[in-house]
Amino acid sequence: MTELPVPALSLVALVGISGAGKSTFAGRHFAPSQVLSSDAFRAMVADDETDQSASAAAFDALYYVAGKRLAAGRLTVVDATHVQEHARSSLVALARAHDVLPAAIVLDLPEDEAWARTEARPDRSFGRAVLARQSRDLRRTLKRLNREGFRTVHVLRGREEIEAATIRLQP
Ligand code: CTP
Ligand code: MG
Repeated sequence: MTELPVPALSLVALVGISGAGKSTFAGRHFAPSQVLSSDAFRAMVADDETDQSASAAAFDALYYVAGKRLAAGRLTVVDATHVQEHARSSLVALARAHDVLPAAIVLDLPEDEAWARTEARPDRSFGRAVLARQSRDLRRTLKRLNREGFRTVHVLRGREEIEAATIRLQP
């Protein structure tokens, strides 16, 4: 078991390609009310959690809620892929605006494993090319997270490390 220290008042970005296990990880380690998921917000604004054309509106709404939580001093976890720099930079900016620490927890599952899981899901229908692009974006990302402003960065490589991890909130 590996304990990942995370400041008790942080804005946590889960980072990982589709199928990496972000939502599963969030559900295991955080209370449901602490987790804001881009899928849930897409469903809220567009009745369809996979509607990518709703992403801008969904993230507006998600960040609005995250801002309210951070203003009230509540740990908040954002469950979205965060493989692209622009997505992470908005999250870092939001954390800074509220004077809380941005943290990143990267779930780095091999693309083949993530694809096998994704293919088995009734609620995912995109092609392998989408996953390949996410993987490419993630690879470029990994070295940069500290420079982008994340003060806490944890990278979990592979299924075993992901499953063995627990979160330790630091006062
Ligand atoms: N899964 C699994 N074993 C795990 C973790 C996840 O079999 N240890 C399965 C889940 O049940 C799910 C799929 O793998 O069917 C993807 O996991 P999920 O947590 O939903 O991945 P996400 O990273 O949240 O994927 P997405 O970005 O598409 O939401
Ligand atoms: Mg998910």
